[in-house]
Amino acid sequence: MNQVIEAILARRSVRSYREEAVPTPEMEAVVEAGLYAPSARNAQAWHVSVIRDRKTIAELGDELKEAIIRCQVERYLALARSAEYRMGFGAPVFVIVSADPAVSVCPEQDSALVLENMFLAAHSLGIGSCWVNQLCPVCDDPAFRRRLDALGVPASHKIYGAAAFGYNGGVHPKAPPRRENAVSWIG
Ligand SMILES: Cc1cc2nc3c(=O)[nH]c(=O)nc-3n(C[C@H](O)[C@H](O)[C@H](O)COP(=O)(O)O)c2cc1C
Repeated sequence: MNQVIEAILARRSVRSYREEAVPTPEMEAVVEAGLYAPSARNAQAWHVSVIRDRKTIAELGDELKEAIIRCQVERYLALARSAEYRMGFGAPVFVIVSADPAVSVCPEQDSALVLENMFLAAHSLGIGSCWVNQLCPVCDDPAFRRRLDALGVPASHKIYGAAAFGYNGGVHPKAPPRRENAVSWIG
């Protein structure tokens, strides 16, 4: 089968990672694939922060939990209060994708395409990944924002997605079954 289609069909969200770091050239190739995503009106209004320091990832995770509780983000409160929840699942790389909503007319879609390109490129290199959504609703919390500033997220940006990257520490997950009637063929 065509290798691109094969990668699209085989990629899965990975939630358990080995300690092993991802080599810089491989991570650079993954990020470059992200930056070649399409964007509305070719705005490319995005920014990618690549965090490869475990201590920084752990601190960000702790501050994320505090921000979710402070902002009372209903859908993530249980996660934020759980001792088991670890932002990024212990992966060695954590990536934040943000975009400027004043520059792109579709910042959310643009950012999602960056992440999907990165997921597919990572998969093709044997690197696992998983979207982490919890940062999006708290990115404007002032205390959390100070941490984002230090991570290079531009002040005018909102976070539209984030993700963990690393080598799979478990079995490769099975694809969830596809929902029926998701396509109409006409003609
Ligand atoms: C917009 C979006 C948000 C997501 N947020 C999370 C998340 O916060 N945590 C998580 O573990 N997975 C998250 N995921 C991953 C989905 O749960 C996953 O893609 C879905 O279960 C299908 O599994 P697959 O990626 O292996 O095909 C998210 C995926 C998308 C597209």
